Amino acid sequence: MAAKLMVGNWKMNGSLAANASLLSEVLGGMGGVTCRAAVCVPSVYLAQMQSLLAGSAMALGAQDVSAHEDGAYTGEVSATMLRDLAVRYCIVGHSERRQHHGESDLVVASKAQRALAAGITPIVCVGESLAEREAGQTEVVVKRQLAAVIHANGHCISEIVLAYEPVWAIGTGLTATPAQAQQVHAVLRAQLQAATAHAERVSILYGGSMNAANAADLLAQNDVDGGLIGGAALKAPDFLSMLKTASR
Ligand code: 13P
Repeated sequence: MAAKLMVGNWKMNGSLAANASLLSEVLGGMGGVTCRAAVCVPSVYLAQMQSLLAGSAMALGAQDVSAHEDGAYTGEVSATMLRDLAVRYCIVGHSERRQHHGESDLVVASKAQRALAAGITPIVCVGESLAEREAGQTEVVVKRQLAAVIHANGHCISEIVLAYEPVWAIGTGLTATPAQAQQVHAVLRAQLQAATAHAERVSILYGGSMNAANAADLLAQNDVDGGLIGGAALKAPDFLSMLKTASR
């Protein structure tokens, strides 16, 4: 079994000074950490992070990528530009982008494709809203979201990382129970198995109010291969504690 993968998603937080201080505290406390780790930072700070992370065990990640290759797309950042800055992972299809920026399943699938073509591992996010869960639509929604990415990426699908992030659990302090997370992760694993002989290579992360107190129980589930962490990744002691839990 591959080492767990713990990814901090800083979202739209930070400054040159704050990033340097958070990173130095995290990197300084990583003795004994054996899980895989990454931080996904705002794109303007990728160059700063590239130099701060050089030679460390923490990989660099971006939070989004353009669905286009290059050209007249003002404000967009391409996958090859990210690659230029040694970006290893890129979140695609985060619910905040689906919700506030109108990203469809198709756009998300194209973004995953662009990342893979540039040698970047897309962290593809799927997840249901509270209304969808209450309507019993959880499986239908996450399967539809993943199906689009499978369809666009064919046999390369075993190269992605998948993140199950129930929208109702993001930034709310409400966490899926370990059993709720495992149930959806198992559905996603089965869908991957039907698409590729290498489904076990895909790390399926849980995200949504994961913190130092609940990480161990979530990570103990069979199909929970790591975490995608928002708020708790902005506090060095909390993030470090989770990295250590994932290293057990
Ligand atoms: P929180 O951990 O703040 O709930 O955010 C989760 C998330 O959206 C990570 O991508």
